[in-house]
Amino acid sequence: MPDLTPTKLFTPRLKLRWMDERDTDAHYAVFSDPLVTRYWSSEPWTSRDRAVQAIARIRAAYADGSEARFGIELLETGELIGNCALHHFFEASRRCELGYAIGSRHWGRGYVSEALAALLDYGFDVLDLNRVEADIDPRNGASARVLEKLGFRKEGYMPERWIVHGEAADTVNYGLLRRYRDAA
Ligand SMILES: CC(C)(COP(=O)(O)OP(=O)(O)OC[C@H]1O[C@@H](n2cnc3c(N)ncnc32)[C@H](O)[C@@H]1OP(=O)(O)O)[C@@H](O)C(=O)NCCC(=O)NCCS
Repeated sequence: MPDLTPTKLFTPRLKLRWMDERDTDAHYAVFSDPLVTRYWSSEPWTSRDRAVQAIARIRAAYADGSEARFGIELLETGELIGNCALHHFFEASRRCELGYAIGSRHWGRGYVSEALAALLDYGFDVLDLNRVEADIDPRNGASARVLEKLGFRKEGYMPERWIVHGEAADTVNYGLLRRYRDAA
């Protein structure tokens, strides 16, 4: 696992920073939103306790190096609108997975593309990754578009990989390699 140290990343409109207990309500607002969990294999949260537990798990993961999850904060207002993460590190292969979500009222303004560009710079430049993977529901067009804008390439398809709200759902696999970035 990488040795994670508290980090802040800045973009023109956003601050990405480690999360703590003060983010509980904002984190709950994101994952209690059924639009956010539409393509997730778990139901929207209905209890604030879920956010309390999630923040505790996020904090533990900083300590053991298993997940670098950043809160996404609007620079203008200081509001925490969502989060993004590098996780499932396979250190010997310099590889991990990518995750992201923001509250639905903030969609369509380029925030996640902006946040992930900074997160990926951190992953490749600071954590020295060689490869980042993402898997998404093929119906999640916005998520696919975000990945493609960032240079990810479609690599595979796994039918019925998840049960999403009672329905078998497929996965499209995406990957971003260091050499794609070097060549860009
Ligand atoms: C997917 C998600 C992260 C996108 O965040 P966002 O901040 O709205 O993304 P951006 O504005 O940076 O980019 C969205 C892009 O998708 C496009 N888009 C939006 N809806 C789309 C759709 N249904 N089909 C195709 N493209 C779509 C937008 O036009 C934009 O592309 P453009 O810049 O070329 O115009 C956000 O919708 C979200 O949090 N969803 C819930 C959680 C989730 O699904 N996470 C991913 C799980 S793998």
